[in-house]
Amino acid sequence: MSTRNQPATIRSLASLRTRVRAFRQEGDRIAFVPTMGALHEGHLSLIRLAKRRAERVVVSIFVNPTQFAPGEDFEAYPRDLKADRKLLAGLGVDIIYTPNRDHMYHDDHSTTVRVGGVGDNLETDHRPTFFHGVALVVAKLLNRVQPDHAVFGEKDYQQLAVIRRLVRDLDMPVEIVGAKIARDSHGLALSSRNQYFDEAGLATARALNGVMFAARDRLQDNESVEATLEWAARSLIDAGFAAVDYVSLADAESLAPITRGPIDAPARLLIAAHCPAPDRLVRLIDNCAVDPT
Ligand code: PAF
Repeated sequence: MSTRNQPATIRSLASLRTRVRAFRQEGDRIAFVPTMGALHEGHLSLIRLAKRRAERVVVSIFVNPTQFAPGEDFEAYPRDLKADRKLLAGLGVDIIYTPNRDHMYHDDHSTTVRVGGVGDNLETDHRPTFFHGVALVVAKLLNRVQPDHAVFGEKDYQQLAVIRRLVRDLDMPVEIVGAKIARDSHGLALSSRNQYFDEAGLATARALNGVMFAARDRLQDNESVEATLEWAARSLIDAGFAAVDYVSLADAESLAPITRGPIDAPARLLIAAHCPAPDRLVRLIDNCAVDPT
């Protein structure tokens, strides 16, 4: 049973469905926050937003294998359910749903979910199967929880666009809510992977948002799009990043690339770059709005 301060931790789909049905019978709305655990203040801000939307909040914790490519950090991805449960206590979460891999995927699982359009460029140029895994697991989780609202962070801006498109195209009866990016006091976007950094890595990582916002200001001052994006990529390397996957300007809704000004509709500046940590390179992503000029 959940108590006021301690959510119920549930592994099986059957008990999830029983509890969700009971909430519905009480007339309660349900807001859902899917996560991969290693929770931090960014996740907590999603949960607070969820609490404002519905009487009941379900948080899932599942490190989804299908969204990791071979060679990525699936095995090393931080997992600490005890710490996560502690963080969630007192936030008014009703259920922590933590299926394991066998609960989530049949051995002969054979369905794929591919979201084109907004899912086709940027991340997909570097992680070609990433959104297939995300769309698949999010579709499954939404079918399992059947929430009224589901909250996702804008830090994964393209992921949010992919999920909005998935839900629209498959007529899923859920409102997708985007939550603003939570940042540390140096502006670094909060991420579970930030815990890989030592002090030096953290200092480099923190340069990213400074470069990004400076590039945004240049774009809003009508400087050349091409020159600004090149300047930002060079500045990241100068700041200590090992490689830059992309610095791109895109239409905020369609994510179609914008390669020259004037910027005549809301746009988004999106960055992915690899930052050195003691035993690996950590791929960071960040983004911000760019107003029409
Ligand atoms: O953003 C994440 O943490 C994951 O991609 C998600 C949405 C929980 C799916 O595994």
